Amino acid sequence: MTTFTSSTIEIPDARRVPRHIAIIMDGNGRWARQRYLPRVAGHRRGLDAVRTIVRACIERGVGFLTLFAFSSENWRRPAEEVSFLMQLFVVALEQEVGKLHENGVRFKVIGELDRFDPELRRLVREAEALTAGNQQLTLTIAANYGGRWDILQAANRMLRDRPELASGFSERDLAPYLALNHAPEPDLFVRTGGEQRISNFVLWQLAYTELYFTDTLWPDFDAGALDRAIVSYQQRERRFGRTSEQLPADTGLALFRAGNTHPAD
Ligand code: IPE
Ligand code: IPE
Ligand code: MG
Repeated sequence: MTTFTSSTIEIPDARRVPRHIAIIMDGNGRWARQRYLPRVAGHRRGLDAVRTIVRACIERGVGFLTLFAFSSENWRRPAEEVSFLMQLFVVALEQEVGKLHENGVRFKVIGELDRFDPELRRLVREAEALTAGNQQLTLTIAANYGGRWDILQAANRMLRDRPELASGFSERDLAPYLALNHAPEPDLFVRTGGEQRISNFVLWQLAYTELYFTDTLWPDFDAGALDRAIVSYQQRERRFGRTSEQLPADTGLALFRAGNTHPAD
């Protein structure tokens, strides 16, 4: 299995087009409310936006896309909304997995799946198995996922496998047990819907991720909006603890500063 660089151990290779984008898809409810529609209508439109963004990521050569679909804390919502979201997840899996596979997408789900009904768990397992060999884009859906849950489950599984580590362990020991270990750390984090918080999304791996917040509501987030986020990323100077002067002149980052920022160039 490929192991990826840890941003706190080595200096990652910062690419012009983000290799991994992680998104908190927020604002579905407000999108619906603005139209005097029920909140669930916003979730339905949110699924359309997922399709658009998956396609746009493939076209732009983004290798990994991670989407926060349902947080550990979203169970606190009204029961009807939770159940609608679960049904939407099932429908989306039934309808979309074939197309994802045709497009070379590797599909993964991270989160505590035990709480989902068996039908949903079966669909997830089948989709993951079917698409396991695909290499165009790895699409990871975070469902019943929480960043703290992830760190705890990783530590617990690690200690079960390697009890001798109870007296002390390193990042390298823990890393293989984290739910997102199949992906490099996100280069770019996007949150739509105007809130500027992490809401218990990937906590460990966001250590050196560039953060981008937009007021655009998730159902309105399209390829143009994604490009604006990527352009913002391209204008950042990723120092990973170093000074500006220490950055190699020929890195992609110097290129970003040199001018043309369109991701497709
Ligand atoms: C994000 O949209 C989707 C999920 C959390 C499942 P919201 O449903 O949180 O929309 P707002 O924040 O109420 O507008
Ligand atoms: C975060 O959105 C979770 C998802 C997008 C799935 P929320 O809308 O639930 O976040 P908070 O509770 O407002 O922070
Ligand atoms: Mg919200």
